[in-house]
Amino acid sequence: MKFGHFDDQNREYVITTPKTPYPWINYLGSESFFGLVSHQAGGYCFFRDAKLRRLTRYRYNNVPTDSGGRYFYISEGKDYWSPSYMPVKRELESFECRHGLGYSKITGKRGGLKAELLFFVPLGHTAEVHQVTLTNESSAKKSFKLFSFAEWCLWNAQDDSANFQRNFSTGEVEIDGSTLYHKTEYRERRDHYALYHVNAPIAGFDTDRETFFGLYNGFGEPDVVAAGESKNSVASGWSPIASHCLVVELAPGETKTFVFTLGYVEVPRDQKWEKPGVINKQPAKKLIEAFSTPAQVTAALAKLREHWNGLLGLYALSSKDEKLNRMVNIWNPYQCMVTFNMSRSASYFESGIGRGMGFRDSNQDLLGFVHLVPERARERIIDIASTQFADGSAYHQYQPLTKRGNNDIGSGFNDDPLWLILGVAGYIKETGDWGILDEQVPFDNDENNKATLLEHCKRSFDHVLNNLGPHGLPLIGRADWNDCLNLNCFSETPDESYQTTGNRVGRTAESVFIAGMFVHIGPEYAALCQKKGQADEAKRALGEVKKMEETVLRDGWDGEWFLRAYDFFGKKVGSRECPPGDAQILIEPQGFCVMGGIGVETGQAKQALDAVKERLDTRYGIVLNNPPYAEYHVELGEISSYPPGYKENAGIFCHNNPWIMIAETVIGRGDRAFEYYKKIAPAYLEEISEIHRTEPYVYSQMIAGKDAVNHGEAKNSWLTGTAAWNFVAASQYLLGVRPEFEGLSVKPCIGTEIPEFTVTRKCRGATYNIKVKNVRGNGDVKLTVDGKAISGNLVPYAAAGAVVNVECEA
Ligand code: GLC
Ligand code: GLC
Repeated sequence: MKFGHFDDQNREYVITTPKTPYPWINYLGSESFFGLVSHQAGGYCFFRDAKLRRLTRYRYNNVPTDSGGRYFYISEGKDYWSPSYMPVKRELESFECRHGLGYSKITGKRGGLKAELLFFVPLGHTAEVHQVTLTNESSAKKSFKLFSFAEWCLWNAQDDSANFQRNFSTGEVEIDGSTLYHKTEYRERRDHYALYHVNAPIAGFDTDRETFFGLYNGFGEPDVVAAGESKNSVASGWSPIASHCLVVELAPGETKTFVFTLGYVEVPRDQKWEKPGVINKQPAKKLIEAFSTPAQVTAALAKLREHWNGLLGLYALSSKDEKLNRMVNIWNPYQCMVTFNMSRSASYFESGIGRGMGFRDSNQDLLGFVHLVPERARERIIDIASTQFADGSAYHQYQPLTKRGNNDIGSGFNDDPLWLILGVAGYIKETGDWGILDEQVPFDNDENNKATLLEHCKRSFDHVLNNLGPHGLPLIGRADWNDCLNLNCFSETPDESYQTTGNRVGRTAESVFIAGMFVHIGPEYAALCQKKGQADEAKRALGEVKKMEETVLRDGWDGEWFLRAYDFFGKKVGSRECPPGDAQILIEPQGFCVMGGIGVETGQAKQALDAVKERLDTRYGIVLNNPPYAEYHVELGEISSYPPGYKENAGIFCHNNPWIMIAETVIGRGDRAFEYYKKIAPAYLEEISEIHRTEPYVYSQMIAGKDAVNHGEAKNSWLTGTAAWNFVAASQYLLGVRPEFEGLSVKPCIGTEIPEFTVTRKCRGATYNIKVKNVRGNGDVKLTVDGKAISGNLVPYAAAGAVVNVECEA
C-alpha cells in the first residue's frame, strides 16, 4: 500500500494522508542550523549540536508517537484545527505534505479554508522560516484567528529532560512587538538567545505553556485556541513557549501570506545587553528584516533549489527504470548529505543526546558525499584524523562541537583505523588532491604531537599488523564493524555497556572481517605510498596484504564460506561446526573478503556468495547471520542479546547488503547484484509501505529479518551508513562509474534488465557523458573515448572544463 507518491520533476515525495504507518520526516538546513520536520509538523530544531544547542523541545517515545513541533492552529468560530492534522486531529477536506530537498510544505484544508505551511532553513541564516499561506476557497467571507506555537527547549536537551528541580525556575522570555524572545540562561554564561517572529502586527501572544494549554490539556486542545484569544502570558520559570495570535479576514478567493522566523542569535559577550536586563536585539532585527516579505522567502527558496540543483547535477542517471533514477539522482545523495550533516545524532530514532560522530561511521559516510562537497570532506578527514592516537588506534567517537575524541564509547575497536585509509583514498580519487597527504595532523588533538596525514595512514595500517592473534588474523579488540560482536566483554551484569566493558583481557579473539578489510584497503595505502615516492613502503604493504590473504584462505575459510571470527577461547564464530542455535554464517566477511579479491581466482569467492544467497537472502534483503542466536552467549556479547531477527542478530542490516552487491560485481554477477539492490532500495518498497513502515524515500538501518515476528518492517531510518554504501554500490559498481587514482573507471555490472542508460558524471571539473549499451551486464566492457577505442576500463582524467564523450558496451 502507498501513502503518497514521488514527484520526480520537483524532487519531492508527496504524502497524501496524515495517517502514514510511521511519522515520515525530512531535514531542514545544510550549514549550521538544522531542523527535523515530520509530515505532521512534528520535530525540532537546533544550532550545530542537537544536544547542547537545542532550540525547541521534542518528546521522544511519547504518546502519541510524534509529540511536539511547530504547530499552527486556526480558530474559526467554535471550530479549531491544524493544517498539519496533528495535533488537533480535526478531519481535513484535503491533506498533502511535500518533502523536498531541504524544505517541506504541508497543506491542509477545512471549511473551505486552505492553509499551506512552508518550512525551510534559508542558506546563510541561522533560522527556520515558516511561511503560512491562507486562501479562502469558499464563497463566503472568512474571519478567523491563526495561532502559532513553538515550545522552547532550555538549550541542553539532556538536562532539559531531566533536571526539573532547576529547570522549572530558570526560564526567561522577552516580548517586543511581534517578536517573542527566549533568553533562558542568557543572564549567566550563554551568549545566545532564540526568537520567534512574525512579519505582521499581532492581536496577542503567549509565552507560558500552562497558560496556553491549561495544565490538564494536550497539544491538541489548547485553552487559548479553544477560547480564540491569547492571554498575553509572560513566562517566568516553568516552560516557556512562543505563540502569536493573528486576526485574519479573507474575502472569497483571497489569499494572505505570513512569514514566521524561528531563529538563533549569538551576541558578542561585551554587547549582550541593551540596558540592564534587556537583551541586545540588534542582531535579531537583522535576521528579521531578511525575511519580512514573502518575496524574500521566495528568493531564499529559489536559492536553496539552486544549491541542490548544483549538487545533484554531479552524477545524473537516465534509464528506463524510474525507481533507480530517483534513488541515484535524488534521494540517495540527499540522504548522504543528511548523514554528512547529522552523522548519527538526530533523527526519530536517534535522540540527539546520544552519540557523537563515529570514527568509522564518518569515514564511511564520506564515501557517499565526497563528490558533493569535496572541501568539506577534506575538513572532515582532518578532523577525524586529529582524534587518532599515535599508535594508530582511535577514539570510537568525537564531539562535533569540540572536535575532540570522547571516551563515552572508549576506543579499541580494531576496525576503526582502517576506515581512515578508505576515507582518505576516496577523497583523493575524487579530487586528485594528493597534497592532503602532506598536511600536518595532530594525534589526539595534541598540537605538540603531529605527523603527516600519510603517516596517520601508516599508523592505521600498522595498527592491524601490531595486533595480530594466534592465527595471524587481526585481533578484534572491543568489536569490529559489528559493534555487537563483543568477544572480550563477558558481561553478566545488567546495565553494563557491551562496548566499554572488557571483563577479560586477552589477545586471542580474532576477526576475519578485519582481515578482509585489510586485504581490500591495504592496496589503497600502498598506492598512496607509491605516489608519494615511498616505493619500498608500498612494496612492504603489498607483501603484508598478500600474507593476510593467505592467512584468510588458510584459517579464515570454513569450507563453504568465510568464517566470522575466533572467540576468546579460540572457538570458531560463524562456522558450519557451530550448533544449530548459533549463527553458522555471518554476512560481513563474505562481503569484504570478496571485495578484497580473496578467493576470486581460486573459487572461494563464488562459493561464499552462493552461500549468502542460499542461507542469508530473504524476500526483503540479506540477513546479517543465520541461524539467529537463540540464546544469550556471554562470550559473544550484544549480538546474542537481541531477539532473533532484529538488529545485529539476523536483522537485515542494510549497511552491509551493498557489500554483497559489490562483491557480486567483483565476480561479474551483475544481475544478482541488481536483484539485491532492489530488495532494499526504498523506492522499490513504496508499494509495501504498510509492511516497511518507514519513509519510502530513504534507507533505514535495519529491516526485520526472516526470524523476526514482523519480517520486512524497517526501523531507524535516515542516519545510517546504509546511505553511503548503497550509493557507492549503485553509482560506482552496478552503474560502474568510479573515480580511481589515475582515471575514471567505467565498468557497469548490473545485469541486462536495463538495456541501456546514460550517466553524466562531473569529476575534477570535467564532464563525462557516458552512454552505456548493456548487452552482457557482467563487468566486461569495451570503451570508446571521444570516438577512439581504448583498452581497459579507465578513462583518463580530462582537464577541468572539458567534456568527454564515452561510449561503453558492457
Ligand atoms: C551502527 C553503527 C555502526 C556499526 C553498525 C553495526 O550502524 O553506527 O558503527 O558498524 O551499527 O553494529
Ligand atoms: C550499533 C548497533 C546498536 C547498538 C550500538 C551500540 O550501532 O546497531 O544496536 O546500540 O551499536 O551498542
